[in-house]
This record gives sequence, structure tokens and C-alpha cells, in this order.
Amino acid sequence: MANLLLFITRSFFKLCSFSLSILFLISCSSFPSTEAYDPLDPNGNITIKWDIMSWTSDGYVAVVTIYNFQQYRHIQAPGWKLGWTWAKKEVIWSMMGGETTEQGDCSRFKGNIPHCCNKHPTVVDLLPGTPYNQQIANCCKGGVLNSWTQDPATAASSFQLSVGQSGTTNKTVRVPVNFTLKAPGPGYTCGPAKIVKPSRFVTPDGRRETQAMMTWNVTCTYSQFLAQEAPSCCVSFSSFYNDTIVPCSKCACGCQNTSQPGSCVESKASHIAPVVNSYTPLVRCTSHMCPVRVHWHIKLNYKEYWRVKITITNFNYNMNYTQWSLVVQHPNFDNLTQSFSFNYKSITPYTAINDTAMLWGIKFYNDMLLEAGPLGNVQSELLFRKDKATFTFEEGWAFPRRIYFNGDNCVMPTPNVYPGLPNASSHQLTSALGLLVTLLAAMALLFGHA
Ligand SMILES: *[C@@H]1O[C@H](CO)[C@@H](O)[C@H](O)[C@H]1NC(C)=O
Ligand SMILES: *[C@@H]1O[C@H](CO)[C@@H](O)[C@H](O)[C@H]1NC(C)=O
Ligand SMILES: *[C@@H]1O[C@H](CO)[C@@H](O)[C@H](O)[C@H]1NC(C)=O
Ligand SMILES: *[C@@H]1O[C@H](CO)[C@@H](O)[C@H](O)[C@H]1NC(C)=O
Ligand SMILES: *[C@@H]1O[C@H](CO)[C@@H](O)[C@H](O)[C@H]1NC(C)=O
Ligand SMILES: *[C@@H]1O[C@H](CO)[C@@H](O)[C@H](O)[C@H]1NC(C)=O
Ligand SMILES: *[C@@H]1O[C@H](CO)[C@@H](O)[C@H](O)[C@H]1NC(C)=O
Ligand SMILES: *[C@@H]1O[C@H](CO)[C@@H](O)[C@H](O)[C@H]1NC(C)=O
Ligand SMILES: *[C@@H]1O[C@H](CO)[C@@H](O)[C@H](O)[C@H]1NC(C)=O
Repeated sequence: MANLLLFITRSFFKLCSFSLSILFLISCSSFPSTEAYDPLDPNGNITIKWDIMSWTSDGYVAVVTIYNFQQYRHIQAPGWKLGWTWAKKEVIWSMMGGETTEQGDCSRFKGNIPHCCNKHPTVVDLLPGTPYNQQIANCCKGGVLNSWTQDPATAASSFQLSVGQSGTTNKTVRVPVNFTLKAPGPGYTCGPAKIVKPSRFVTPDGRRETQAMMTWNVTCTYSQFLAQEAPSCCVSFSSFYNDTIVPCSKCACGCQNTSQPGSCVESKASHIAPVVNSYTPLVRCTSHMCPVRVHWHIKLNYKEYWRVKITITNFNYNMNYTQWSLVVQHPNFDNLTQSFSFNYKSITPYTAINDTAMLWGIKFYNDMLLEAGPLGNVQSELLFRKDKATFTFEEGWAFPRRIYFNGDNCVMPTPNVYPGLPNASSHQLTSALGLLVTLLAAMALLFGHA
């Protein structure tokens, strides 16, 4: 009998530790990841392709193209900055469709002065409206790169450079090292340049194919942790069936610091100090201190459908978010019927779990999320068709699992504060009872086997 008791206690503790470890796993997975790997876009990267198009007397002419292969992370104005370190004493004689930010020390040259003599050049895109004789195809977009889902046609950017004092054959050319990509802040890490099969180009009429003399690729990946240590957006909830509004978690993106005036402002007018770097957010004072809030409101319940209203609010006085994007994970996205004023695309359309959508603004209508203020918000409604087998308003099922704004993970409220159904207490009781019954059943099973 004592043995039996011991056995029961042991099984009970085993069960407990099992559920504890599950709890632990769940809580761990909700921490923001510090790694570059993004489960929603595992192959997401920016690839830089460097094609040597011809050799010159002291070097070569190359076309460099930056492809944004990320599904939902774009680079908005003021755009990308690409840097590298020359392997030898190379100089850039001239450029088209881009320019280096500094010329560097070209004092050893007489007569013909290079465009850039820096060992570590940094290249930026030219602005729209650049004279045609300085343009090449795919250039001059002010460094803006769309995401691959939003528009593959504008997800690439090119410039051309004429390099001197380098090798003049594919045996003597040395590839540059230490590529850096800024957007324009930190976040991207670039790997080494890899010599690959020379690119092939088809003439517009499709009748002739040419090929580069030599090609190398560099792959850069993004890490939210490198970009900024604090999160940059948060999520709040409400529903028609409960008047509780679940706000963004307190201190989701930082805490208000009373001993440090200027860390946030009450309104734009109250902010007098000049903006030193306008890309550091100047946020309105809120309990969450996030530059952006995404609100998910469960608006209506029909027989066959249900309706959600999404509002994105800008709390940053220093930023108009152009071509913003939202990624939302919810199991009902496989039956989304209509998105009323955002563009929509499934980003996992062919996988078994078709639950993730990208939403973005309609051009010239709401593709710009204006700086904080009365106009600093965009909204849309989503209509989902109910799948009788899975649909429920219970246990927060109707709330999203995960939300990204501009590719960065938003802080969700903790599950225990989700708006509950009015009769939630009785449900809690039955589920507690259910747990007890399951526990007893499990024990009985173990008991029977003993
Ligand atoms: C970069 O992204 C492209 C397109 O998704 C993919 O084909 C390629 O394998 C990726 N490169 C790396 C190194 O992950
Ligand atoms: C260099 O060119 C030769 C032929 O001209 C070719 O066989 C070789 O593979 C090329 N090497 C590289 C690294 O591209
Ligand atoms: C490239 O970067 C690495 C690490 O930052 C550094 O050790 C190395 O000296 C750099 N190489 C050159 C040529 O600057
Ligand atoms: C190099 O990059 C280009 C453009 O993204 C891509 O088409 C090509 O497959 C890449 N080559 C390798 C070997 O990754
Ligand atoms: C508030 O700001 C002061 C001065 O910058 C700093 O020393 C302190 O750690 C900050 N406190 C919090 C809670 O962030
Ligand atoms: C945002 O756009 C509005 C209207 O185009 C403009 O007045 C404002 O200065 C812009 N704000 C920032 C921070 O760029
Ligand atoms: C995924 O869902 C979208 C609509 O939400 C639909 O267009 C697409 O066909 C679905 N894909 C699969 C494989 O079910
Ligand atoms: C919801 O979507 C799934 C997968 O796309 C499909 O099998 C199912 O029939 C849909 N349900 C309704 C009610 O449309
Ligand atoms: C609304 O939800 C909260 C949080 O789950 C719950 O405590 C409260 O009882 C609900 N209100 C009503 C009227 O059911």
C-alpha cells in the first residue's frame, strides 16, 4: 500500500513537472529572439550581386545590384548605405546611379581625379529626378527598397562603378571584404563575398544572351536585436463582447523616465529642442512608450462570418512610415473573405498551416502612416469566414498569435488579461473540473498498469 501511495505521488509529481516544463517552454518562446532566424521568413535576406561587365586598362566596370529577398521587411527613406573594404589599393574612377558619401584623400592623383579614394567607401543611392545621363536601370530611388511580397519589381536597386588600380583579369581581381549594409541604421550583418557563376543577361528582345566577366554575391541578414534593443511596437485588444480594453503592456518598449526629461513628449509643440537625429523616435508619453501601436478589435459576430477592425497608431513625432507593412498570424487567415482598405497577401500560401498574412496600405490612400497626431493612424476591417470546426470566441482564440510592424515583432499583451466571454467564470470552473477529471483518468490508467 505504501508503495502504491509512493507511486501515485511520483506520477503526480511527474505530471506536474511535465506541465511546468510546458509552461516554461511557452514562456521562453514568447521572449523576443536575438537571432537572425525568423520563422515566418526563414530564407529572408538581402543579396548583393556584383557583376563585372567589362575590363578596362587598369581595372573594370561593374554593376552592383541589391536585391531585397525579404518577404515583409522593406528599407524606407532615407534608404540603404552599402559599405565595403577594398582588398588592395583600388579607387573608384566614376559612378552612375549611385555615389560615395566621401571622396577621401585623392591627393596622389594629378589631372584625372577619382570619384573616391577611400579604402572603406560607403555608397548611397541617387535621388529620384537625377539627370538621365547619371542614371542606370533600377537606380535613383533614394535608397528605398520594397519588400519582395509588396512589389518584387521595386525590391532591387542598382548602381555602376568603374574601378581602377585593381586586377584586370578574373585571376588578379581581388574581391572586397567586410561588406556592411545600413538601412540606414544597424540591423544587417553581411557574410563574405562568394565568387559565383557569372550572371547571364538576356537582351530585351530575348534574342541574345550575354554574360558577366565575373560575379560575386554577398548575403546580408537582419536581426531585430541588432537594429534596436527595445521593441518598437505593441499590440492592444478589445471586443464587442466585453468592455475591457486590454492596453499595450506597460513599459512594452521602455519605461517613462521622470529623471530624464525629453525621453518622451506630451505633444509636438511641447518639444523645443532641435532634432539631432530624426531617425531616433520622438515618442508621445504613454505607459508603453512604443512608437507604434496595433489595435485588434473584434467588432461583429455574424452567423457565418466574423469581423475584425485593425487600427495602427503612430506615436512617433519624428517619422512618417512610408510603405508600412503588417504581418499577422491568426489561424483564420486561411478563410479570410475580405480586407476592406489594406492590401492583403498570404505569406504561407502553400504550407499546411496557411495562417500568416501580410497587410499593407493602398497606394496614395493609406500607404503612409503619418507622424503622431490626429492623422497619425490607418485602419481597416477584415471579414473572416467561420470554420465551424475551429471557430470560437473562447480563450482568446479570436485574437492574433503574432504581429509584426515593418518586420519587427510587436509586444503582445499577456494571455491572462485577454478579454473574456461574459460567462468566463463558469467556463474556467468547467475547465478546472475538466483538468481534474483528466488528471484522475491519467492516474487511473497508471494505476491499472501498475
Ligand atoms: C536569399 O534569398 C533567396 C530568395 O529567397 C534564396 O533563394 C537564397 O537561398 C537566400 N540566400 C541565403 C544565403 O539564404
Ligand atoms: C576565369 O576565366 C577563365 C576563362 O577565361 C575561366 O576558365 C575561369 O573559370 C574563370 N575563373 C573565375 C574565378 O571566374
Ligand atoms: C574585416 O573585419 C574584421 C572584423 O571586424 C577585421 O578583423 C578585419 O581586419 C577586417 N578586414 C579588413 C581588411 O579591414
Ligand atoms: C547570386 O545572386 C543572384 C541574385 O540574387 C542569384 O540569382 C544567384 O543565384 C546567386 N548565386 C548564388 C550561387 O547564390
Ligand atoms: C532614468 O534616467 C537616468 C539618467 O539618464 C538613468 O540614470 C536611470 O537609470 C534611468 N532610469 C530608468 C528606470 O530607466
Ligand atoms: C510627414 O508628412 C507630413 C505631410 O506630408 C509633413 O508635413 C511632415 O513634416 C512629415 N513629418 C516628418 C517627420 O517627416
Ligand atoms: C491560403 O489562404 C488564402 C486566403 O486566405 C487562399 O487564397 C489560399 O488559396 C490558401 N492556400 C491554401 C493552400 O489553402
Ligand atoms: C477554410 O479554409 C480551409 C483551407 O483553405 C478549407 O479547407 C475550408 O473548407 C474553409 N472553410 C470554410 C468554411 O470556408
Ligand atoms: C471581460 O474580460 C475580463 C478579462 O478576461 C474579465 O475579468 C471580465 O469578467 C470580463 N467582463 C465581462 C462583463 O464578462
